[in-house]
Amino acid sequence: MAKLVGLLTAGGDSPGLNAAIRGIGKAALGSYGMKVIGFRDGFRGLMENRSVQMKSVSFSGILTRGGTILGTSREKPHRMPVGNKVMDMTQVLIENYQKSRLDALICLGGGGTQKNAYRLMEKGLNIVTLPKTIDNDVYGTDVTFGFDTACGIATEAIDRLHSTAHSHHRIIVVETMGHKTGWLALGAGIAGGADVILIPEIPYDVEKIAEAILRRRHEGKNFSIVAVAEGAKSRENAAALQKVIQKKKKANTQKEKLKLKAELQQVESRYSDNTFQLSRQLEKLTDLTSRVSILGYVQRGGTPSVADRLLATRLGTACADLINRGKYGVMVASKGDKTEPVPLKKVVGKRKTVPLDHPWIECARKVETNLGD
Ligand code: F6P
Repeated sequence: MAKLVGLLTAGGDSPGLNAAIRGIGKAALGSYGMKVIGFRDGFRGLMENRSVQMKSVSFSGILTRGGTILGTSREKPHRMPVGNKVMDMTQVLIENYQKSRLDALICLGGGGTQKNAYRLMEKGLNIVTLPKTIDNDVYGTDVTFGFDTACGIATEAIDRLHSTAHSHHRIIVVETMGHKTGWLALGAGIAGGADVILIPEIPYDVEKIAEAILRRRHEGKNFSIVAVAEGAKSRENAAALQKVIQKKKKANTQKEKLKLKAELQQVESRYSDNTFQLSRQLEKLTDLTSRVSILGYVQRGGTPSVADRLLATRLGTACADLINRGKYGVMVASKGDKTEPVPLKKVVGKRKTVPLDHPWIECARKVETNLGD
């Protein structure tokens, strides 16, 4: 009997999702004679049983398209907004999986999706996942698709900002995405030759950044580019946040946990305009004019790079192969030039942050980039 496979994309979109859908679909149909159905808008589509039969033609002409042809959402099965309530709809998703007579469900997503897929796996569903996010922070894989494209877009932006910063003798603070990890700011910052790179993994000292900018001015370089990840924080702000995080970790009751979660959100919201605050502080400390450029969702849009197309196709086809062999409960990871199934249990609840001894950190320092410390 031909296997019937469900497919969904969840979490923030990223370039390469369609290339992965194509890789999965073409291999599943063409090489293994499976049938594929796609669920719309992430886990919500499985809950509402909104699906489409995917035929060979569904996978044509999508390789270069950004976003996801299936649509996506950030909604979680166990905390699904239904009407004006938030409910645990896991059982409904399981029933729909069974009613559709699926042999397996493929979930394409970032860290949150891996966790949600793992929860479904624990309830007995046959799950295989793929790692995507422009943040590159999924644990257990060398790289996620979407990252290379976003890094290219951010690098091009930094290239363009150089000429205007230079002409006006200004500081330009350019913000990349990356709430918890700095892969994007670091990668684009190095590739684009930013003078300062600030990432969440290294809390910064604004005085040190100002000193570096003034040093540059004394050398005759009267402009500076500061690449900052949206989640980068000053030492003081990072310490304040850590305090609440530690308290939350120690919380015993659900009530206490919820209270501290709200407190954490409140503290985090205080730092939502970090980049603008930083720009104002640098103006004061250096006497140079400073401007902010937030790259935002531009980084997530558009056609995937060559590297992302290759990666998504490699992981997608390997995913179809694993399902053919009946290997479930795994994320299809990229390790060197190989593809490896990593048990989902090992992936969830962790985040791949930038190690402080990573070669990118070392080379950034060697080309005299200030990292805010
Ligand atoms: O995809 C990850 C990410 O790009 C983060 O870097 C960013 O903070 C977040 O998504 C924001 O996405 P949304 O507004 O879609 O939730």
